[in-house]
Amino acid sequence: MKITVVGTGYVGLVSGTCFAETGNKVTCVDIDEKKVQKLANGTITIYEPGLEKLFQRNLKEERLIFTTDLAEGIKEADIIFLALPTPPGEDGSADLKYVLGVAEQIGKLLVGYKVIVNKSTVPVGTAQKVHNAIRKNYNGEFDVVSNPEFLREGVAVDDFMKPDRVVVGTSSERAKKLMSELYAPYVRQGNPVIFMDEPSAELTKYAANSFLATKITFMNEIARLCELLGADVDMVRKGIGTDERIGKRFLFPGIGYGGSCFPKDVQALVRSSHEVDYDFKILESVMQVNEDQKLHLLPKIKKYFNGNLVGKHFALWGLAFKPNTDDIREAPALYIIKALVGEGATVTAYDPEAMPNVKAQVNDIINYAETQYDALKEADALIIATEWNEFRTPEFEKIAAGLKSKVIFDGRNVFDLQHMESLGFHYESVGRKP
Ligand code: UGA
Repeated sequence: MKITVVGTGYVGLVSGTCFAETGNKVTCVDIDEKKVQKLANGTITIYEPGLEKLFQRNLKEERLIFTTDLAEGIKEADIIFLALPTPPGEDGSADLKYVLGVAEQIGKLLVGYKVIVNKSTVPVGTAQKVHNAIRKNYNGEFDVVSNPEFLREGVAVDDFMKPDRVVVGTSSERAKKLMSELYAPYVRQGNPVIFMDEPSAELTKYAANSFLATKITFMNEIARLCELLGADVDMVRKGIGTDERIGKRFLFPGIGYGGSCFPKDVQALVRSSHEVDYDFKILESVMQVNEDQKLHLLPKIKKYFNGNLVGKHFALWGLAFKPNTDDIREAPALYIIKALVGEGATVTAYDPEAMPNVKAQVNDIINYAETQYDALKEADALIIATEWNEFRTPEFEKIAAGLKSKVIFDGRNVFDLQHMESLGFHYESVGRKP
């Protein structure tokens, strides 16, 4: 099949590359000339495990092409994917200017039947708006489909190649057939392509992310309760996760969810609910609890240092919002850093991938270390903000030697309590006994 993907951000690049991987001819279109040039010359623009290999292979085989020319890009396409940003507007609702702007342009360029697929996370009713925007300039046949993506950063290639399910919102039989053919190689193991109407598909994406954000937030509140009641959240997590109705995954408490998706999507769903006079109370609480959770470690740190952090120096491991990504959007680490610096402390941070992004954003308010152990030098305590694998079994002697005293505040519960006790560390984590 001939596919066009408009937008070479995270979703666009992963989707385009993975569509090419099964033999489709994929043209990726973006208005950013520099980015297109880089990609066309074989330089990948995002960090995503496993993507580079697929990207290089398909580029070489000329199944993956990059251009800034939308007209050229869509000329021969059977299916045009829109993978465009939908940033939160001032009121928290998703801003559709990019999606609808491109839809209007596509309307001017269409010749013959094509399927236009929305992959961006968009509020209910957007498929209709995209339809109307194209219709403004085009009288021929076309279908607009809603096909939300469920990729997780860090495992996006796997998620794309072997999805739990593919959700396709369309009322057109012709579009359904094309979408079934396109996704057939990805669901060979029998996972379903679930067809539904467009609004249901659009809402499915928000419901999925909001449900997962709620699940995490629920566990974060249980963890808080554990601390107050003297229970251990690890035990409670295992105790409830073994009930299949609850499930073991996404029950790990920590210092709040971050990233480009959960915070934005929860907020947008609350906002959409208000527009139809519905008060989505659970989600409003989820947002509030998560804001507090990002700074959950702070009172513990302050208490340990008798309420005064002026002149204290901290080592901080992990800046990305989660492991295996360089993405720092809404990363709890950044909130912690700002709070510590605001209290008069200094911070030296280390992250395997995210340091360049943080340098570009918060620049000179912290120092950066070459290695995780270099970060410890002269620090009063170590703070762990992201659970990268390399932080899980560190050389504790080196930690002890680097720090001024053996103190660790762990926002991701990476170490075993008894082990830390036996090593003589003052170790505080989330929802477990200090
Ligand atoms: C999320 C969804 O999981 C994807 O299905 C979806 O496609 C994507 O958003 C999106 O809308 O594009 P992602 O943001 O990459 O993916 O990250 P997740 O792995 O879901 O983690 C989200 C946050 O939850 C992270 O901050 C993570 O640290 C936190 N989390 C996750 C916990 O605090 N505890 C857990 O048990 C799991």
